[in-house]
Amino acid sequence: MNASLQVPWQAEVVSRVQETPSVFTLGLKLDDPAAPAPYRFAPGQFNMLYLYGVGEVPVSVVSDPEHDDEIQHTVRAVGRVTHGLEALRPGDRIGLRGPFGRGWPLEAAAGRDLLLVTGGLGCAPVVSVINYVMQRRERFGRLAIVQGVKHMDDLIWRERYEAWSGRPDTEVQLAADVAGSGWNWHVGLVTDLFDRLTMPIDQALVMLCGPEPMMIAAIRRLLELGVTPESIWLSMERNMQCAVGLCGHCQYGKDFLCRQGPVFNYPEISGRLGVKGF
Ligand SMILES: Cc1cc2nc3c(=O)[nH]c(=O)nc-3n(C[C@H](O)[C@H](O)[C@H](O)COP(=O)(O)OP(=O)(O)OC[C@H]3O[C@@H](n4cnc5c(N)ncnc54)[C@H](O)[C@@H]3O)c2cc1C
Ligand code: FES
Repeated sequence: MNASLQVPWQAEVVSRVQETPSVFTLGLKLDDPAAPAPYRFAPGQFNMLYLYGVGEVPVSVVSDPEHDDEIQHTVRAVGRVTHGLEALRPGDRIGLRGPFGRGWPLEAAAGRDLLLVTGGLGCAPVVSVINYVMQRRERFGRLAIVQGVKHMDDLIWRERYEAWSGRPDTEVQLAADVAGSGWNWHVGLVTDLFDRLTMPIDQALVMLCGPEPMMIAAIRRLLELGVTPESIWLSMERNMQCAVGLCGHCQYGKDFLCRQGPVFNYPEISGRLGVKGF
């Protein structure tokens, strides 16, 4: 066991963006002499962010893996630690351990059409893939980005989605269960959007992230549309504590999400998904 992964490094908050009333992005710079330089991670991996004196939470990394001048995390304030992180401002300091877990299968995705399906703040782990693909467009086929939110006001990075939709070989479809004026996208479920894509999705590699019921509904529809189970990958969330496979907090059947996940190939967990007790 690498001891450095059990002891947080010090990091300084170098930027902060308020994305929606409850969602914010923190840019961090590791300035701990013990920290690795450069800091390397793969899209889909997460860090443990330690708010001194309060606690530690797992949060996905959303920045580009090759631009390590700022390590970015987009967070929804829901409880004790995340509300504390919300109050941080540039110059404040926190602890960081990571990166942890298995990220997205970018080698398997090379040369394939990609369908990225996200719900709610599920877009955080997937946004680093979007950034990654956009920077290396020649390595991948067509790209379809599908995002659903409960209310139109929950959508973060609206201008980024609009910019991505204008890129070659890229299409974006957004849906909100509830929307009012100013919403030019679909009103309804994220699963409705698959039929609106021009890209044939039966050959695509799919990356899914979001609330479990949404991922289950999406998988059911994708299988009906001819996507093979092996082409579906998903990122799972569970409470975490150690993040290094010791405490058992993230146990998911025979796997620990912090080690074998959070990204899984659908056949690996199809028997556990949505089953009470897991
Ligand atoms: C691998 C992984 C990656 C993650 N990536 C991100 C990320 O990129 N951005 C992000 O914002 N979060 C992410 N999370 C979720 C984040 O870790 C939790 O929101 C955080 O641990 C909550 O801690 P807290 O102390 O603020 O809340 P707590 O005090 O533990 O919880 C307070 C209340 O909030 C509820 N709650 C807890 N978690 C959530 C949740 N996720 N959604 C809604 N309600 C919740 C609890 O049920 C409780 O009622 C990730 C989790 C995992 C496992
Ligand atoms: S968080 Fe401790 S085993 Fe995964």
